[in-house]
Amino acid sequence: MKDLQELGTEDLREHVAAELARTRRRSAQLTDAVDDEDLVKQHSPLMSPLVWDLAHVGSQEELWLVRDVGGREPVRPDIDDLYDAFQHRRADRPELPLLGPTEARQYLSTVRDKVFDLLDETPMEGRRLVDRAFAFGMIVQHEQQHDETMLATHQLRDGPPALDAEPPPPGETALPSEVYVPAGHFTMGTSTEAWALDNERPAHEVHVEAFHLDTTPVTNAEFARFIDAGGYHDPRWWSEAGQRYRHKASLEAPRFWIRDGGRWMRSRFGHVEEVPCDEPVVHVSFYEAEAYAAWAGKRLPTEQEWEKAARFDPATGRSRRYPWGDEDPTPDHANLGQSHLQPAPAGAYPLGEAPCGARQLIGDVWEWTSSDFLPYPGFAAFPYREYSEVFFGADHKVLRGGSFGTDRAACRGTFRNWDFPIRRQIFAGFRCARTPIPDER
Ligand SMILES: [Fe+2]
Repeated sequence: MKDLQELGTEDLREHVAAELARTRRRSAQLTDAVDDEDLVKQHSPLMSPLVWDLAHVGSQEELWLVRDVGGREPVRPDIDDLYDAFQHRRADRPELPLLGPTEARQYLSTVRDKVFDLLDETPMEGRRLVDRAFAFGMIVQHEQQHDETMLATHQLRDGPPALDAEPPPPGETALPSEVYVPAGHFTMGTSTEAWALDNERPAHEVHVEAFHLDTTPVTNAEFARFIDAGGYHDPRWWSEAGQRYRHKASLEAPRFWIRDGGRWMRSRFGHVEEVPCDEPVVHVSFYEAEAYAAWAGKRLPTEQEWEKAARFDPATGRSRRYPWGDEDPTPDHANLGQSHLQPAPAGAYPLGEAPCGARQLIGDVWEWTSSDFLPYPGFAAFPYREYSEVFFGADHKVLRGGSFGTDRAACRGTFRNWDFPIRRQIFAGFRCARTPIPDER
């Protein structure tokens, strides 16, 4: 987001209104792309029907903005329970008496009208929930996160392509394979980013030992070499939990890859095409990423290493908001926001390069780290425990950097995503790190 600290109240309201509208256009694009039958259907037990995500977005907006921030009468108190993500598992959601597509769209627009109405009257200070329009920013991010989830549902859906986008910009092959980040302290997390969520806070000093990091995410060609070398079937590369999952799920290749004679094909939003060699691998679980890294003689980076590579500027000693600096992402910096329906080839986006020389840390693919999702020292749940706190622990691994399906409003250098290590339908890939061998440097 813009440096919201500097905006006056009217400019802040204008910014909020523009972000809400921009985000709603994306939700509409994702749901108008298919017919009603498709909207209510469950395309995979891993996902909600699209129409559930749609009404859930409206329900959260009603709870936080209409009722809490605005203090207005509830719009549909009768449906609170249906759209409470903690009440019903995704697999069970199609059986609920959900709003139909027309009703859901109507509900969203009723809620949104009330929000635009109350936005003009809401003071942007005096209460933490509205300070610098935080609750509005939280709702924008929430809707964008569901848009990415809906994009993942599109990827799981059968049938002809429903979405369209330009191909991404070209990559660059002549880059060094690794960058080096010397040992030292850096500031991790943030206490100043206005719309940062509770788990990104507070800013704190962390010492990180020297490490090497892959300049770009691991590509499909590199990952295919791991498969060809028998990597999926070699227990040396797999953790115990990873091996159990590999057996149970019969893993042989990234999700959506199809063997066609001597080559790999993939399905991508309804297109079947040859797997592009130079593109970052996507749709791999944490366990597959971890096994590849072991096979390559490396490891996954810790979350601390990832963030230091992405934010630390040795010239000034401070941490940037993004790898390229403090300015908000533009299409020249990173592959974000569904502008392209695939990752860009490795080495793309030279203007998005971090001070250490690493590229594509923001956008393209979420990157698995080796770290469990844990609170930072001094963490305080805000505005509710269910946002982050209930997910802390060893069950979830941290992912960083956002994907081609992540909007710029829901992605920054400090942003932390988390998921189960078995997840493959998300737009996740990885890059490797390694500890320097003695006297290497
Ligand atoms: Fe949600």
